[in-house]
Amino acid sequence: MRRATILSKARGTPPPVLRGKLPIVGVLPALARNPLAVLTQAREIGDVVRLAVPGRHALFVLADPAHIRYVLQENDRNYRRTPFHDRLKVILGEGLVTSEGELWRQQRHLLQPTFRAEQVRGFVRIMREQAEACAMRWQQAAEKTEVLDVSREMSDLALKIVVRCMFGQDAGEDLDVRDAVHEAQAWISDRIWSLAPDWTERLPTRGNRRFRRSLAMLNGAVERIIARRLRTTARNDDLLGMLVVAQQAGESIKARQLRDEVMTMLLAGHETSATVLAWAWHLLGESPSVAERISAEVRQTIGTFRGVEAEDLASLTVTRAVIQESMRLYPPAAWFARLAAGPDSIGGFAIPSGAIVLLSPWLTQRDRRFWPDPDRFDPERFVSHERPSAYTYFPFGGGPRTCLGNHFAMTEMLVALATLVLRFQLVHAHPGAPVRPELLLMLRPARGLFMQPVERRHTEPVAPADTCSVR
Ligand code: HEM
Repeated sequence: MRRATILSKARGTPPPVLRGKLPIVGVLPALARNPLAVLTQAREIGDVVRLAVPGRHALFVLADPAHIRYVLQENDRNYRRTPFHDRLKVILGEGLVTSEGELWRQQRHLLQPTFRAEQVRGFVRIMREQAEACAMRWQQAAEKTEVLDVSREMSDLALKIVVRCMFGQDAGEDLDVRDAVHEAQAWISDRIWSLAPDWTERLPTRGNRRFRRSLAMLNGAVERIIARRLRTTARNDDLLGMLVVAQQAGESIKARQLRDEVMTMLLAGHETSATVLAWAWHLLGESPSVAERISAEVRQTIGTFRGVEAEDLASLTVTRAVIQESMRLYPPAAWFARLAAGPDSIGGFAIPSGAIVLLSPWLTQRDRRFWPDPDRFDPERFVSHERPSAYTYFPFGGGPRTCLGNHFAMTEMLVALATLVLRFQLVHAHPGAPVRPELLLMLRPARGLFMQPVERRHTEPVAPADTCSVR
């Protein structure tokens, strides 16, 4: 009855519906199995499509950039965090990704300075040092013709970078959280589309026990990060320092909030960039001429005498385009969601209050209406063409809740890729074998990415060029 009243307030006609093979459960089993396939099927029906799923919340997929802009930016006040975010709270608590309202505003304001361009420039040295340490390991692997799991390599590298830049510490073995992050992601994404009631999360099943163990590991790592910092003198030159100083100055940051923000940055800040870099290596492995081109670009810009500096980044046009194109094809956040607080109308279709809308960079960034030959890896799209029009490309989201770490991430990915591509070509260990994407919370290569580093032979050292001539 209540639902009928609410529905009647939403203006517009009901949108087309994607139904599953089974009654009652609708497309839910398909969503649990392969959400990307369901999103793609929805787009084939229309730009605003309702997915038939059981439960309290109607579920919609939006594919049109204008509608995405509307939700994220123009009418963002009507679109809130969702029950999916509540799931994430089991790990992230009330950190910046999951919080709302005044708490979110205060925390975003407090953390923003760490992500300003000037501050991020200061992190370039750390990013380069970590990438160079990775290059040393790769050199040994190259000498022994060893195959590496590049997904793991990039995960380690991004973790080390974020822990050093944000928390001022080294990610040694006691902060080895990679497997725990993977477990936790798998559990959450399982629960997101699960039909099982919430109480089943407390049952001592194998999956639940593994998740609890992973969560305890993550909590332990975060506690150690904070405890180490509290033992040292107060500095506020990084994110953790700012939080600790604000807490010690009596501002309203409770110990729990500190924990939640550190956990949020640890998780939001490393798997994302790591998966983009892994996909970039995969795509470059399939297009060695592009890899050659960006290696030449880096060489032309910095020579072979020194490492990448902040001033070089603007000249790495093609290298940046490779990252952008990798993120177009494989956006780490392949979809994200909002809950309609009040009834609305989008594209003439009724959106009832309490509905969840799914926005998917995966879908829109592979839409042939906006991206010709959309499945082809073609970094040229970002080199020679105008900027993509708004919300045809939105790997970092948009509107007030746009990714706080986007500039940090782009800088980190550029420094890492430039440093490594200058010295190595990565060759697929199993050429021709498909590398399938797997969507846990992030879009990652399913079952890893196995490649062999081969050292590039530069015939002669090159001094940096005055200008970048590669373009
Ligand atoms: C390639 C790398 C990255 C991608 C593609 C990415 C993507 C995103 C997206 C799509 C959102 C918005 C989700 C939504 O609107 O619901 C987001 C939010 C966020 N990201 Fe990132 N992210 C990346 C890297 C990072 C890094 C390196 C950090 C921090 C060090 C970070 C911190 C955050 C935070 C704190 C938010 C929440 C912002 C808010 O709600 O105010 N991200 N990210």
